[in-house]
Amino acid sequence: MKRFRRLRTTEQMRSFVRETTVSVEDLIYPLFVAEGTDKKDPVPSMPGIYQFSLDRLEEEVSKVVDAGIPAVLLFGIPEHKDEVGSEAYNENGITQRAIRQIKTAHPELLVIADVCLCEYTSHGHCGLICDGHILNDETLPLLAKAAVTLATAGADIIAPSDMMDGRVAAIRAALDEAGFELVPILSYAAKFASAYYGPFRDAAGSAPQFGDRKSYQMDPANGKEAMREIEADLEEGADMIIVKPALAYGDIAARARERFDVPFIAYNVSGEYSMVKAAAENGWIDERRIVLENLTSMKRAGADRIITYHALDVARWLSE
Ligand code: PBG
Ligand code: ZN
Repeated sequence: MKRFRRLRTTEQMRSFVRETTVSVEDLIYPLFVAEGTDKKDPVPSMPGIYQFSLDRLEEEVSKVVDAGIPAVLLFGIPEHKDEVGSEAYNENGITQRAIRQIKTAHPELLVIADVCLCEYTSHGHCGLICDGHILNDETLPLLAKAAVTLATAGADIIAPSDMMDGRVAAIRAALDEAGFELVPILSYAAKFASAYYGPFRDAAGSAPQFGDRKSYQMDPANGKEAMREIEADLEEGADMIIVKPALAYGDIAARARERFDVPFIAYNVSGEYSMVKAAAENGWIDERRIVLENLTSMKRAGADRIITYHALDVARWLSE
């Protein structure tokens, strides 16, 4: 008889044959930075997550550094929004200032800058609008400009999340032109039009004011197309890729891992976080075990690293 149970007898034995582990080095923590002072505003749909003003940001960043988390992903929330997302490419915009401040205090912490327009546009879409359509090619120079200002501020990694076609090439060219040929691009290569981003849009105030994102983000039904998206971004010059969301998209992660030998990051998105938090607060699930099981599934599917709002909690659990 095959006795699989031989290798399951004790924790020492199970640990000895364990194929997948989650460690603090795997984690990337998203941060929301808002204009204003003395702000640590809770995001109602994401318990434990806050919008920080610059003068209180260090409270959170020092926790990240002390926990040994190697990287943060920054999202800026501007006071002023307009049709063309001007604050996204303002050299002194909220995100650019946050990056300068973090890199000055913690040069060793990797700062990943999300590049998109939706937090900065009055209409909440990721690109420019004309007659209710989201323009592609006209949006590219603005994304490229945003990327250059973020790199100038000191961002270590540029992460475009807009899903316009051709943006990686446009951003690569602009970065090179500006002397940032060594700043890598982490592309949200396969990003699906997902209901799981709902809580994030509360956190970032970036919900579209009309329509939805289905004309630029991917149809959740399409796995083969995700491979073509990733392939195209790598051809355009992406150095690393993201698949997003993570939990319901393990098949996409596994296929991406098989096909592409580049650093690959899963994004455990806001809705995935909120569902776990809500159930845990009701006492319906064991939060710690559920979170570690979810993150383990992402690593097992092939992710090298995970962007997760649980990062600070996980770092604490792993060190206990
Ligand atoms: C901006 C952006 C979004 C997320 C990351 N970057 C929102 C969206 O596309 O609507 C989602 C993150 C999350 O849900 O945690 N384009
Ligand atoms: Zn966007």
